[in-house]
Amino acid sequence: MSVPQQVVTNDDLAQRMDTSDEWIRSRTGIAERRVAGPGEFTSTLATAAGREAIERAGLSPDDIDMVIVATCTPDRPFPATACAVQANLGIKRVPAFDIAAACSGFVYGLSVATSMIQSGASRNLLLIAADIFTHLIDWNDRNTCVLFGDGAGAVVLQATDKPLGLLSAQIGAAGEGETLMAVDACGTRMPATADLLEQGKQYVYMNGREIFKHAVREMCDSTLRAVEGAGLSLDDIRLMIPHQANLRIIEATAKRLEIPMDRVMVNIDHYGNTSAASVPIALYEAVQQGRVHDGDYLLLTAFGGGLTWGSSVIRWGRP
Ligand code: UT7
Repeated sequence: MSVPQQVVTNDDLAQRMDTSDEWIRSRTGIAERRVAGPGEFTSTLATAAGREAIERAGLSPDDIDMVIVATCTPDRPFPATACAVQANLGIKRVPAFDIAAACSGFVYGLSVATSMIQSGASRNLLLIAADIFTHLIDWNDRNTCVLFGDGAGAVVLQATDKPLGLLSAQIGAAGEGETLMAVDACGTRMPATADLLEQGKQYVYMNGREIFKHAVREMCDSTLRAVEGAGLSLDDIRLMIPHQANLRIIEATAKRLEIPMDRVMVNIDHYGNTSAASVPIALYEAVQQGRVHDGDYLLLTAFGGGLTWGSSVIRWGRP
């Protein structure tokens, strides 16, 4: 994983606007977040996370035969950030492309990546989820700016005959909810003009309450289908690793699924909502903390703009 150096605490924000550490902690569980500085791009974080993942897999860049980056905040509107990452890591002439599924990006990416391996198109695939979501933030909008942080997480997926890796996945979307959370300007629909930038149309807006309800419902429903698809029950899941958008969303989801919180990974306090990167960063820290062992069944679940969602059951281990 990789996060920017710069830490912004709730108190830092409270000095700039009408908010408080108490409000942010009690409504979201967030205490601080990392914010990219000048010269730190999505590809910067993605490259650092990708490099570490390749090293930890005991591989070299020459072994990687596909690069996928899940992001909704690419370096440039065009071309794909995966190509910059490929070049940065010195990975030669292999397919490299982005996936845009907002906060569900890593869970979507895991499905696409696994299909690539199962089809024989790849044997050693680098999957990175990276977002500099603060790029889309209006730092004067307290409804959104307190929620997000920047980061990247990466995994190497390898072909194996063992019953490991992604066992079952449920990904979905409801496009009619597109404008519950969106950025209106700077795409083809509303190209950037001085006037639109003046109005702040390049920034994200969100209907937090509606998103909250959809998030709990879709993460629960997709989890139940994914667990059933893997031929398991929720009791078999050693650790749930949910998207870190709001501690209250995580707790409501766990409660509805009757998963005790000691089997749920939470690190939102340090990073806020890092969009697509939140699930792999939480997975990384769960591994670091010794909470993930070979053979464990893990549940990843996420929800985000689109609306998109997804749940995956994976069995942890080396090929
Ligand atoms: O990654 C996936 C996408 N996003 C999400 O999953 C976010 C889902 N939604 C949420 O996490 C929550 O809805 C929020 C954290 C965004 C908001 O929490 P809430 O409990 O739904 O609060 P609210 O929007 O209903 O606002 C309650 C009050 C309002 O004041 P009034 O109208 O009751 O007087 C807001 O103006 O809190 C006010 N408020 C704030 N106060 C202090 C909103 N933001 C802040 C703030 N500091 N930063």
